[in-house]
Amino acid sequence: MKKLTNEDISNALDHPVFRLIGDTADELDLECYVIGGWVRDLFLQRPSKDIDIVVAFKDASKRQQQDNDKTSGSRPGIMLAEALKKKLKKANIAIYKNFGTAQLKSKGVEIEFVGARKESYDRNSRKPVTEDGTLEEDQNRRDFTINAMALCLNADHYGTLVDPFNGTRDLEDKIIATPLDPDITFSDDPLRMMRCVRFATQLGFHIEDETFDALGRNKERIKIISQERIADELNKIMLSPNPSKGFIELDRCGLLELIFPELAALQGVETRNGRAHKDNFYHTLEVLENVAKSTSDKEWTDRENSPFESVKDHTLWLRWAALMHDIGKPKSKRWDPTLGWTFHNHNGIGQRMVPNIFRRMKLPMNEKMKYVQKLVDLHMRPIVIADEEVTDSAVRRLLFEAGDDIDDLMLLCTADITSKNEQKKQRFIENFKLVRQKLIDIEEKDRIRNFQPPISGEEIMELFDLKPCREVGVLKSAIKDAILDGNIPNDHDAAMSLLLKEAEKIGLKAKK
Ligand code: CTP
Repeated sequence: MKKLTNEDISNALDHPVFRLIGDTADELDLECYVIGGWVRDLFLQRPSKDIDIVVAFKDASKRQQQDNDKTSGSRPGIMLAEALKKKLKKANIAIYKNFGTAQLKSKGVEIEFVGARKESYDRNSRKPVTEDGTLEEDQNRRDFTINAMALCLNADHYGTLVDPFNGTRDLEDKIIATPLDPDITFSDDPLRMMRCVRFATQLGFHIEDETFDALGRNKERIKIISQERIADELNKIMLSPNPSKGFIELDRCGLLELIFPELAALQGVETRNGRAHKDNFYHTLEVLENVAKSTSDKEWTDRENSPFESVKDHTLWLRWAALMHDIGKPKSKRWDPTLGWTFHNHNGIGQRMVPNIFRRMKLPMNEKMKYVQKLVDLHMRPIVIADEEVTDSAVRRLLFEAGDDIDDLMLLCTADITSKNEQKKQRFIENFKLVRQKLIDIEEKDRIRNFQPPISGEEIMELFDLKPCREVGVLKSAIKDAILDGNIPNDHDAAMSLLLKEAEKIGLKAKK
């Protein structure tokens, strides 16, 4: 981390809106600071868009008076926001009196105002009972030392850093630690346990020992947190440069078992008659890391016709597919005296588990889930093809089933080759090259990727004067199979002559 000088800090705060906020606070006799993520990211020199401003009464007697008089309009965050609203007539400022907060939106930046708080928590919810407090009390109740740093905006101390827990030192040492007793910090708001692992993963930081031990002691408290919030944190872990770190930490502290038992179940190695299978949890994390590497390089872009909103969204769901590709292994595991350990049809079992896991985790139940499901289902196919003879018809069928997701499937399957046996690895890589080349050649020749049968069901019904019935399906499949097996080309005339022959076999005659 580059050490920031006072000049760097002044430059970062050299914005008319910060000056205006500070001057307005001075006029109202309020203390005001930028706090939290924006300050942390300033030191880390990471982009940060949301700005949190914490506001406190300078004079303790005013705070006391305000505690007695509970009218929310006189809470410091609201007082400052209302004064700013009068000055900035064009700005979009929303005031939430019930929460004592306000939000200013301008040019894609969001500034949130909140009164300094001291809090005590209800054990059964994350809803704090709040009272106005000092800056120090507010900093005590924040999640991590690196998120508790504040920069003053009042004129007489403009740009002064208030860092009571040595957050800057922890940033330098790459440490995640809570400001106070971690048992209290996590028990107060158990979402912070997920945030702890998420920040450690995003930033590549170490979780300080006492903080880590408290994760284990408080893990059961995660049950009061909504699935949506947990999924949000998991997605942030997934999009980190090394997402496997997050899953290793979640597993080490015992949270993984509670939030994603199917993934935790991949763990362990069983040995029988001296034959052991690999640890599927660590294998999965290796595959996830390989996919993460491929989806963060410059070559990786979104494709045409994708159901994703952005490259980031596409990356996220491909990484989820990597995380879940072997999820069916524990349920499919068998011991065979001749073959040893087998995981027969783990892809089929896995793809059936995907919708239930997505539903429970409140992940989207739309085409993104279907994409993950499809990749889980098909992830063994290129390996099987590469392991045997790479025939045209096997490649054609793979293209047909994978459609536009074929490149993602190939990326996942390449990432899945984690064998330590170099010879075996090389053989797969060479055969994969062959599969890729065949995929290109066949697509060029047969246009299978978005395969539409050259003769439709309607045409078959019309031709043989049929109502919808089993025979129509049989004839359609015969055409599809003949094209995919390479027996006829993918065109209307060839399909028609095959159709007439197949129809005759089942006693159907075309209308004159
Ligand atoms: N905070 C907290 N406990 C939480 C959530 C937030 O103490 N459960 C505090 C932290 O000081 C944090 C600040 O509120 O820095 C702002 O929270 P938020 O905007 O959620 O997170 P950021 O730290 O800004 O980081 P990110 O946007 O990556 O979540």
